[in-house]
Amino acid sequence: MKIYLVVGSGLFGSVFAHEAAKKGHKVTVIEKRNHIGGNIYTKEVDGIQVHQYGAHIFHTSNKKVWDYIQQFAEFNRYTNSPVANYKGKMYNLPFNMNTFSQMWGVRTPQEAMNKINEQRQEMAGKEPQNLEEQAISLIGRDIYEKLVKGYTEKQWGRSAAELPPFIIKRLPVRLTYDNNYFNDDYQGIPVGGYTKMVEKMLDYPNIEIKLNTDFFDKKDEYINNFDKVVYTGMIDKFFDYQLGELEYRSLRFETEEKNLDNYQGNAVINYTERQIPYTRVIEHKHFEFGKGDKDKTIITREYPADWKRGDEPYYPVNNERNNDLYKKYQELAEQQDKVVFGGRLGQYKYYNMDKVIDEALNLSRNLEEK
Ligand code: FDA
Repeated sequence: MKIYLVVGSGLFGSVFAHEAAKKGHKVTVIEKRNHIGGNIYTKEVDGIQVHQYGAHIFHTSNKKVWDYIQQFAEFNRYTNSPVANYKGKMYNLPFNMNTFSQMWGVRTPQEAMNKINEQRQEMAGKEPQNLEEQAISLIGRDIYEKLVKGYTEKQWGRSAAELPPFIIKRLPVRLTYDNNYFNDDYQGIPVGGYTKMVEKMLDYPNIEIKLNTDFFDKKDEYINNFDKVVYTGMIDKFFDYQLGELEYRSLRFETEEKNLDNYQGNAVINYTERQIPYTRVIEHKHFEFGKGDKDKTIITREYPADWKRGDEPYYPVNNERNNDLYKKYQELAEQQDKVVFGGRLGQYKYYNMDKVIDEALNLSRNLEEK
């Protein structure tokens, strides 16, 4: 039996803790927030599961991960089909025949392709120098201006003409009337919320959970007192930023209770014009098909924000500078024989939930062999 410390009760830490406990190891999970679950945390308000840190839709094509997660929750059949609001006109997403029909009145895939190709001509023979040109070369000006430009500029806090082209590598176009945002085989939301799912993962007699506990209050003591530490916090902070600071984008959430049954008719509406400062409005009850109080609904406006030390680091900015710096931190991490780094902050990558589960399962398998 080994004694593990897991720093962070997000999905990575919780899957790892579960697997280690199942194999008979003793696990202490410390969490600096006052709740478990990390960013997938949901809180019940008016009978509605509120996604406290942004909309979380589980989707995967990894059958192993999908089968694994079923033991902790029953998943509903929620399918992500966001709608864009541009100056009051509604467009289906992702870009598909519904969108093209709403944009141009076209009806067939051939008509849509002809229109897109005609619009892309604007960039014919030119090498895109910035995100704006890249998007126009992929999808044409109409869709770029109405559905991409403002949203992307809000996300990055900069004009599209100043952003590098590589941010948008592809803009998939779907020539069917299919509003399902993801191409994955499996998709859904855990019935009763993500927190309940994580509670079930951590419900083991040999797992102890300590909330409101920051690893950095007793870093050396923790490392000395445990056989192994699985650290899912920020990798640069672990090393006291000695090589410099990795950059992130942050978010601000503004949540409001409304005395209505149904505010916007969909879980996710994107606001794609620059003038409206938020990017999305989430209406949480639609993730569970309207469950919750009949005369109440909870909405959250999502505002992209610059990040500075102390803010929540939501999205890593994986540009060349940060990726090179992360590699250097990774070299330091490899020299730590008692500490392993996992999850989106420990590995400085945007990971979807399925990938996080997969990585945590891989790590728990590897550790057993040591
Ligand atoms: P996570 O950040 O969740 O957990 C880390 C935990 O460590 C936190 O609880 C933190 O408080 C704790 N911690 C950090 N430092 C500590 C310290 N010093 N001491 C103690 N505790 C410490 N994915 C997907 O599949 N579908 C989706 O729809 C979405 N949607 C989405 C929206 C938004 C806005 C974001 C930012 C992300 C998503 N994701 C997503 C991604 C998803 O959130 C992600 O895959 C997992 O939450 C990552 O889990 P981790 O455990 O790696 O990190």
